[in-house]
This record gives sequence, structure tokens and C-alpha cells, in this order.
Amino acid sequence: MRTPLVIGNWKMHGTLGEARALATAIRDGLKRPRGVEVVLCPPFTALAAVAESLGTGPIQLGAQTCHHEAAGAHTGEVSPAMLADLGCRWVLLGHSERRREIGEPDGLINQKVKAALEHRLTPVLCVGETAEERRQGLTFTTVEGQLRAGLAGLAAAAIARSVLAYEPVWAIGTGVNATPGQAAEVHGYLRGLLSELASKEVAQQIRILYGGSVKADNADVLVAEPEIDGALVGAASLGAPGFIAIVKKAARVGAAPKE
Ligand code: 13P
Repeated sequence: MRTPLVIGNWKMHGTLGEARALATAIRDGLKRPRGVEVVLCPPFTALAAVAESLGTGPIQLGAQTCHHEAAGAHTGEVSPAMLADLGCRWVLLGHSERRREIGEPDGLINQKVKAALEHRLTPVLCVGETAEERRQGLTFTTVEGQLRAGLAGLAAAAIARSVLAYEPVWAIGTGVNATPGQAAEVHGYLRGLLSELASKEVAQQIRILYGGSVKADNADVLVAEPEIDGALVGAASLGAPGFIAIVKKAARVGAAPKE
């Protein structure tokens, strides 16, 4: 069985003081999370402070993106080696906000996935269609293209060390989450593709998270879907009580076998 995973993506939020306070409150509220893995992804500026607040506890640290080289003349960038050195074990890649705002293309995201794996970071490859693509019936075409390009050239063993996140763009920050059925349909499709790109066994072990307006009051029905292995949480990860409630709901689902 796949252990549920809940990741908080703080995006561009939080002064050092706010980040420390939030990480500490989450740490104290989740002393011994059972049946669930928890990752916090603060902005780069707060990574060291959050690492200190989390200490050697069970909550893990991740970043929101990284460069594809280990070092070099790349003004403003942060390398996977630097993230690993800070204690990060995870990195979000291909988030739709970066695809849209920075124009990150699939080929570059693929290089980043490879670089992350080389530095023993777990890449969380994000895919998802826009509202317009869904209206035009292009949901599967879009996510398939993003998945194939993001994982291009990776051996099955490398794919096995990755996590996917399905984040429909129309559900991010809108308060309108995909229904469990809509998400499960896409997750099932992605898992089918993983079988082809890696193997059936690898596809069965890879976690596919859902992201997009996940909150304490919808987390349980989403994560209860057999195909949904956890949540990538934006706005609702910025408050400790709400985020802790989401983690506890995922843990409860994790403790009871699905189906
Ligand atoms: P929201 O939870 O704010 O909709 O954001 C989702 C997201 O983009 C997480 O990466």
C-alpha cells in the first residue's frame, strides 16, 4: 500500500518570523504522524529557518523549484545541491504557476527532474490542464504530454523514486476543487501511463497527489479515493490548524485500507 503524503506548498508567503511560527506550530501539532508522510515547502528564504524549527522530527523539508545544474553562473537560481545541503529531501517541479508565470517548458522541467534525482531529492512532478483545455476535451492529452516530457529519458528505477501531483489549473486557488471522481479519473490515467513508461510494479508504488483547493473539509473524500495518494496543499497549508486537520484526515485514510 502507498503511504499517504501531504505536502504544504507555501508559495511566496511568509517572513522569517511567520515561517518559523508556522513550522513550529505544525511540528508541535504533529509530533508523531502515523500512516502519513508530511513535507513543508517554504520559500527559499525560509528554508534554513524551517529546517531548524523542524529539527530531526518526522516532518520533512522541500523546496518549490530548483535549477538543473549543481552550480554555476546562474544569477538568482538555487541548485539541487544547495537544497540537499540545507536538509531538503523534496522539490516541487513543473508547478503550473512556474509554467505560466516563468514560462518553464517541459524540456527544462525534465532536466530539473533528472538533476533533483542526481542529488537524492524526490521530485514532485506537477501536471494539470487549464479550464479551457478541459472544456475542449484535452485533459488527458495535456497531462499525458506533461508526464511523458517530464519523465523523458528516465529509467524505471528513477521513475520509481519520483512523486506525481495532479493539479488542475482551474482548481488552484479558486476554491473549486476537482471532484474525487474527476481527480481519480486523471490519476488512473496517469498510473496507466506510468505502467507503460516504467512497469506495472513501479506504477503501483508511485504516489500521485491531488492539488487544487484542498481544505480540511474536502481532504478526506479526496484522499479516500483509491487512486489519490495524498494532497499538495497551497492556501490551506498557511494555517497550522487547517493543515494539521488535513494531515490527520489523510492519516486516518492511510490507516484503513482503501476498497
Ligand atoms: P491551493 O491549495 O491554494 O488551491 O493551491 C494548490 C497548489 O497550487 C499547491 O501546489
